[in-house]
Amino acid sequence: MNENIKKILNKKNKSKLVCLTAYSKNIASILDKHCDVVLVGDSLGSVLYNYKSTKEVSLNTMISHSRSVRLGVKKSLMVVDMPFNTYRNPKEALKNAKLVMKKTKCDAVKLEGGKKILSIVKKLVKNKIPVMGHLGILPQTDKKFTFKGKKSFERNRILKEAQLLESAGIFSIVLECIEIQLSKVITKKLSIPTIGIGSSANCDGQVLVIDDLIGLSENKFKFVKRYINIIKVINEAVKKYRSEVLKKKFPKSKHSFKN
Ligand code: KIV
Repeated sequence: MNENIKKILNKKNKSKLVCLTAYSKNIASILDKHCDVVLVGDSLGSVLYNYKSTKEVSLNTMISHSRSVRLGVKKSLMVVDMPFNTYRNPKEALKNAKLVMKKTKCDAVKLEGGKKILSIVKKLVKNKIPVMGHLGILPQTDKKFTFKGKKSFERNRILKEAQLLESAGIFSIVLECIEIQLSKVITKKLSIPTIGIGSSANCDGQVLVIDDLIGLSENKFKFVKRYINIIKVINEAVKKYRSEVLKKKFPKSKHSFKN
């Protein structure tokens, strides 16, 4: 088993897992110092390309961004989202997941869904492709993005699906916007780590979209905490640069070449 996956599994009930998304090298290399998992999420569709849904993200786009992220990730576990319509059956999933693993040299792929993807997960795991699961809000297929676990039938279904996915061989699971008590039960019942986004501190770890955390995106989701207003910092730097260019204070001779 991949050493990084072993490390992730060993942290269950011992230490929280820190996970963030990255879409390119420079950010990835910063996150790599602080994270257990760096995820190339298909959220890049809305964050970078203004797509209305992650359905529009292609396999090639995921591969290009992941190749860039790979250059920055040296120690963390690197996971890549399989985009919509690239894992509709076990054969298609295996072909595309193999391509992602080969082209990006990532450690694992992430797939959204429960019961419907069990045979797909089994196929990938059998072929030594580590899989991270994803339950709760499923951005690739859900119509409504409201939190999950309000009704008891839904709670039972999500718990059951998490257990089935674990039996199918996933090594970890993202729980997106799942009600607090349900995340607690799932986290307790599974022996693999749960990684929450909007699913409370009951999960074994947390993930956020980096652009939301640093204030680079406009998103104001309830579950996001903005740790810095990076737009303000960039604005100040660019304003200063503009002013110095206009006043001929930049570049100075030390920034220029002389024979
Ligand atoms: O696409 C993504 O960034 C994700 C995380 C939000 C978990 O799936």
